[in-house]
Amino acid sequence: MVSLYERAQKVMSPVANRATTLGVSKGEGSYVFTEDGRKILDFASGVAVNNLGHNHPKVIAAAKAQMDQLVHGGHNVVYYESYVALAEKLVAISKVPSKVYFSNSGAEANDGALKLAKYVTKRPAIISFKNSFHGRTIGAMSITASNAAYRKRYEGMMPSVYFAEFPQLSKSPYPVIDGKTPQPYFDQFDELFRSMIDPFSVAAIILEPIQGEGGYVVPPKDFVHFLRQLCDRYGILLIFDEIQTGFGRTGYMFASEYFDVEPDIRTVAKGIANGFPLSAILAKEELMDQWESGAHGGTFGGNPVACAAALATIEVLEEEGIHNAQKMGTYFIEKLYDLQKKYPFIAEVRGVGLMLAVEFSDTTQKSSQEVLQTVIHQCLSNDLLLLSCGPHKNTVRFIPPTTVSVAEIDVALAVFENVLREL
Ligand SMILES: Cc1ncc(COP(=O)(O)O)c(C=O)c1O
Repeated sequence: MVSLYERAQKVMSPVANRATTLGVSKGEGSYVFTEDGRKILDFASGVAVNNLGHNHPKVIAAAKAQMDQLVHGGHNVVYYESYVALAEKLVAISKVPSKVYFSNSGAEANDGALKLAKYVTKRPAIISFKNSFHGRTIGAMSITASNAAYRKRYEGMMPSVYFAEFPQLSKSPYPVIDGKTPQPYFDQFDELFRSMIDPFSVAAIILEPIQGEGGYVVPPKDFVHFLRQLCDRYGILLIFDEIQTGFGRTGYMFASEYFDVEPDIRTVAKGIANGFPLSAILAKEELMDQWESGAHGGTFGGNPVACAAALATIEVLEEEGIHNAQKMGTYFIEKLYDLQKKYPFIAEVRGVGLMLAVEFSDTTQKSSQEVLQTVIHQCLSNDLLLLSCGPHKNTVRFIPPTTVSVAEIDVALAVFENVLREL
């Protein structure tokens, strides 16, 4: 049999990077099934998308029911039930009076959020963070700084973007006292505003509340609170890119709850519809009300089937997913800390909820990058699918569905530890 991988080589552009050569025919719960008969425990979740696992029956039923009614109406042509109902639901779960705009992908939502911020503030500049990832469109790429490969030969991007240091306390060059942000991370903004950009020319500060692609880096809470105050001081809008952190991933509906900080604008995608392509910009009502008709748009945003799937996804998250993510996240991270005590080449365990990562250091035989490669390769050989993250290519991430069970986590941990033991 010619594999999907072999067929794809002949017809697909090599540009889309793929983590494996697996050809998958079916997904169910925490597992994917391959064309050659393997059952693989999927702790990648399609890169933090299948937050309720593959083909959750309630989501599939909602999508099928919607398909019998309307597949596309065009949100710039008509109104339809799933679109309005999902917007109502997102507004209801927002902590502040909000309004919604739907699009298709994370990058598109981020581009829209930047446009909204510029439109409303009439200011040109954006501040983003080093090691951030916001997507692959020119706009989203312009605020991304996790990998030079993403920008190679595309330079000449959106102007007036400035990058600040994102505090990762374990790697701080400054002394860390009581887990608080060292002063230089605060002072960098004074310096930026003195030397580079007037704060009143800054439309928005955008950040992932927990950096995803950048290595599952959780900033100290006081830093996120500081950003809120900084934005308020200068009339800058605070944008949270919750594309990876949203919809139960961290054991909260949104990571903003973990930090107890409300952004002005929040972008969401990935897990929102458990696999159907959908993204959204959630923004404070008074901002959305200033975004005039026709200033932004798109054909497929808020597809009826994706919106119906999202409504079902949110219902299941509220019923059980979020609670389970919190419980399983606590169980999982404790087990990873235990492994760290046993294996000295585990440099750090970090994350919140089921957004977890293990960073490796060098062993006597292998560099930390080789350790990562071996771990990912050997885990997959033993039917556990994991992805990497982080700027140094030495970190593995665990992103199981929020519906994961203790038994499944135990299987993953056993496979993982068997591989560690061999190193
Ligand atoms: C935090 C974050 N923002 C934006 C994106 C881009 O989303 P998309 O690939 O749907 O455009 C991603 C995707 O990995 C992400 O993790």
